Amino acid sequence: MRLQTIGLIGGTGDLGKALAFHLAKGPDTVLLGSRSQEKAEACVSDIFSEKGASQTEIGDLRRHLKPCTNQEVVKLADVVIATIPYENAVDTVRDLTPHFKGNQLFISAAAAVQKSENGEFKAPIGTHSLTLQLRDILPATVKVAAAFQTVPARTLYKGKENFAADVLVASEDKETFVKTAEIVSQIKGLRALHIGSLELSAEIESLTSILLNIGIKNGIKNPTFKVESL
Ligand SMILES: NC(=O)c1ccc[n+]([C@@H]2O[C@H](COP(=O)([O-])OP(=O)(O)OC[C@H]3O[C@@H](n4cnc5c(N)ncnc54)[C@H](OP(=O)(O)O)[C@@H]3O)[C@@H](O)[C@H]2O)c1
Repeated sequence: MRLQTIGLIGGTGDLGKALAFHLAKGPDTVLLGSRSQEKAEACVSDIFSEKGASQTEIGDLRRHLKPCTNQEVVKLADVVIATIPYENAVDTVRDLTPHFKGNQLFISAAAAVQKSENGEFKAPIGTHSLTLQLRDILPATVKVAAAFQTVPARTLYKGKENFAADVLVASEDKETFVKTAEIVSQIKGLRALHIGSLELSAEIESLTSILLNIGIKNGIKNPTFKVESL
């Protein structure tokens, strides 16, 4: 298996931290990125202290997980996962675009979530697919997918034995789905399901709001999607 470098921009939030921790258990190098090198270092130290229960685990994490800036992530990583707030994603990626090394996979995990006055969550009015907007900004040699929007980050970070969730993926082509699914399948309990082209990414981006409402209205903790065949 070819070793690769996986990087997270906005890796210091709940989702970035959870993905970084689980991906760093595998053989690949994982770059946890931030706008601030110091914040990335503090986040990686937190992961070491919270998750390094044994000498072997802490050894693996220390070898594979590195703090860096978002700029270094896009310069160095073969796979870039954007775990940044929806409303900041376009500006952040536009600023980083000149630094992408090219021929990379870019996965957007950003979800369109806005809290209404009545406490319900929904996608902001007039929201178009963020992933399609990012596709327009990114270099042509970078392949783009949307994924991870329905994964509850804090539950994933806990790493419970029975954790299981489906990761819905929209991608610009089948090969991009296959590469995204390889990343998803490195995390125990996650299964990638292809929903289709990037034209469908807005549907995935709005699912987080639906899940948040399901959780609140029905008293379900950390709801996620699991698709079953009956
Ligand atoms: N949390 C979940 O359970 C979950 C689940 C599925 C999908 N998502 C989606 O995944 C994304 C990340 O979620 P999260 O909960 O981890 O988010 P978050 O904690 O709100 O933000 C993640 C990181 O984004 C960076 N950031 C914050 N403001 C920024 C700005 N103005 N410009 C550029 N970067 C900024 C920060 O990193 P630095 O300050 O270190 O740069 C922050 O730690 C969101 O789009 C969310 O909708 C979240």
